[in-house]
Order: sequence, then structure tokens, then C-alpha cells
Amino acid sequence: MNTPLHVPASPAVDTLFLGYPEAARLVARRGVVACLRGMVEAIESAFLRWPEFDKSARTAAHSPDGVIELMPVSDARHYAFKYVNGHPVNTRQGLPTVMAFGALADVRTGAPVFLSELTLTTALRTAATSVLAARRLARPDSRTMALVGNGAQSEFQALAFAALAGIRELRLYDVDAEATRKLVGNLRPWTERLGVVVKACASTRAAVEGADIVTTVTADKAYAKILTAGMVESGMHINAVGGDCPGKTELDAAILSAARVFVEYEPQTRIEGEIQQMPADFPVTELWRVLNGSAPGRQSPREVTVFDSVGFALEDYAALRYMRDLAHEAGMAVALPLVPQLADPKDLYGLLAAAEANERQARPATGPAAVPAERGDATALPAGMAFAAR
Ligand SMILES: NC(=O)c1ccc[n+]([C@@H]2O[C@H](COP(=O)([O-])OP(=O)(O)OC[C@H]3O[C@@H](n4cnc5c(N)ncnc54)[C@H](O)[C@@H]3O)[C@@H](O)[C@H]2O)c1
Repeated sequence: MNTPLHVPASPAVDTLFLGYPEAARLVARRGVVACLRGMVEAIESAFLRWPEFDKSARTAAHSPDGVIELMPVSDARHYAFKYVNGHPVNTRQGLPTVMAFGALADVRTGAPVFLSELTLTTALRTAATSVLAARRLARPDSRTMALVGNGAQSEFQALAFAALAGIRELRLYDVDAEATRKLVGNLRPWTERLGVVVKACASTRAAVEGADIVTTVTADKAYAKILTAGMVESGMHINAVGGDCPGKTELDAAILSAARVFVEYEPQTRIEGEIQQMPADFPVTELWRVLNGSAPGRQSPREVTVFDSVGFALEDYAALRYMRDLAHEAGMAVALPLVPQLADPKDLYGLLAAAEANERQARPATGPAAVPAERGDATALPAGMAFAAR
């Protein structure tokens, strides 16, 4: 039997880990609406501290079918990053379009203090950000929302707008009727609770006609025109969520020309958002300015407003901290042995020496195979550490 590694008492880095089953349990326990509300508050308070953050546009690795992105941001206390992909083809092979995880680190030491799933958390934070924007940009008497694209994000958008933004009628459309059926089914328990009517529509045009708010949350790596200018009515607010990477849009450029457009972080949205279709000097307003009162939101009941959402790292910073606090409260995160605990911080090799000693003890030496790490062969790793080559 292996004797445990000798780990002397020295400062430990407690990296808490939150996997998706625990994240889902936390959200179920707190209530999805309460979590959405909490995230709206957390994201708003982060946006109100905008100048305190070191910000950059995310870096993207493109491939024919998708994109993988890294999204860093930090303030004096925490560094946060998210890894996220966007592969609209994935659902055809049983994988989600969007998968994500991320971490929070302590800026003073660089120690990673929280590592979390962010697939579920991204859906919550995206819906919360949509509501935060809509509260300033949609007409306050908005009651009807068209929801075009009924995939993984859609329930969160529907619930956030119904519970937190006064929407009483949801009109749904997706090219995949099965996705709409799934959404209708998932919303059924909420219709009475939130007093919301849910209607499946036959086309985008039918869903959008007469709507106060239009949320587009489709996935297609293409210059799509889900909404054309002829569908847009005066006073509408468009919450454009699905166009979030170069070569991937949802709105006809003519809609943007005739609207006031709001973005999260302008340098990133110029590359990734609907406004990638527009000249570099096309006027936009960053949301944080509307939130802190230094720029106007909606100015009249008749104007058309667009929230050109692409997802910004600051939202994930706020969401990570929110989920970490929930996990702490519930005692639901587990400590992950991610960073070595060393008696002498300069003696990293000592960790290996101790591991080798343990290995020797476990299997009496019969030659070089007694130190399997040398062999670069998964089958030689200690039991439980083998991983399949893919
Ligand atoms: N802005 C953000 O912060 C943010 C965050 C998360 C996801 N997203 C984006 O939102 C989009 C949706 O993500 P998801 O996880 O729900 O993906 P998903 O693949 O689960 O769902 C997308 C849905 O769009 C439908 N669709 C595709 N083309 C359509 C069309 N022309 N008309 C109507 N429906 C159409 C698909 O049938 C599918 O049901 C993706 O493009 C994703 O990249 C943006």
C-alpha cells in the first residue's frame, strides 16, 4: 500500500472546485430565479467598478466549425479567466454548442483559489446581463418578448425576462421544432408561477410581430440575418446574443444603422459583435456608462435599441465570485490538490523525490520500471491515474 506523500505543514493553496452537478444542485437549492437576480446584482456592481479592472478583448482560436476563447480580467483582488468554445455543429453529435470552465485567482500571490464549471454558469450570467441591459434600454412597459433560438441558453433568457423584467408573453421560434418543444416543456412549471403565456410560433416574423423585446440566441457560424429591417418595429429593444464571433451575426446591418447600439466592451465587440458589419467609427455606447449614469440609455418610447451582446470577461468574474460564495455557504465545493504544498518553496523537486520514494516502497525495485513517470507510458502510471489517449 502507498504511504501518503510526506507533506509538511506549509502555507496551503486551497483551490476549491465546483463541478456541474454541484453547481446545478446549488442553483436548484437557491432557486434559479434567485440566482439570476443575484447575478444581475453582482454583474451590475462589477460594471459600476469598470475603471478598476484591467481589461482586454478575449483571445480566440478559430477553426472551420467553431472557436475556442480565453477571457481574462482582473482587479486588485481577483484575477478571473474563462475558457469557452462555440461550435454550433456540436449538437448534431450530442455535444453542447457552448462549454466552459474558469478560475479565480488571488492577485496578491497568483494562487488559484476557485476552479469551476462555467457552462451552466455562463447561461445564467448571459441571461442576467441581458436583463441588466434591457432594464435600461427596453421600454419600461415591455410585456412581450420574442425568443428566436430555443437551444441551451433559451430557458435562462426566458425565465430572466419573465421573472425580472416584467415579460408576460413569450413567443418562441426555432428552425428545430424539437428545440421549441423542449423549451415549452421546461417553461411549463413556470407559466402559472410567473404569470407568463408561452406561444410557439411558425416563423421568426410571426414571433417578432408586435413584440416589445426581441431576443435572438441562435447558433450558426455564418453571417446570418435572423432579423431583417422589415421585421423591426419602432420602440423595440433587440437583445442580440447569438452573434458573438467573427463571421457569426444575426442582424441585418440596416437594423443597426437605424438603432442606438449598446455594447459590453467596445474593443471586443468591434471584432465579434453585430457591429463587425459596420464601419470602425459606427457609434456605440458601452453599457457601464449607462449603468453609472454618464450616458443615456433609451431616450424615447419610439427609438429602436440594440444590445449587441458578445459576453465579456467581467460578467464571468462576477458570476465566478457569486458561485464561489454560494458554494462556500453550502459547503459544496471540494478542495482540489492543484498547487503543490512544499516544505521549502524552492524545492519543487522534493515533491518528485517523495513520490519516487513512495513508488519504490509500493513496488520493490525491479529496474527502471520502478519509476514509471520516466516511461511516458499511461499504462505505467499508478492505478487511478491512467488516462485514455484520444
Ligand atoms: N453573448 C453571450 O454572452 C453568449 C453567451 C452564451 C452563448 N452565446 C451564443 O448564443 C447562441 C446560442 O447558444 P446555445 O448554447 O443556446 O446554442 P444551441 O446550439 O443550444 O441553440 C441554438 C439554437 O438556435 C437554433 N437556430 C439556428 N439557426 C436558427 C435560425 N436561423 N432561426 C431560428 N433558430 C435557429 C438552433 O436550431 C438551436 O436550437 C450561440 O451562438 C452562442 O455562441 C452568446
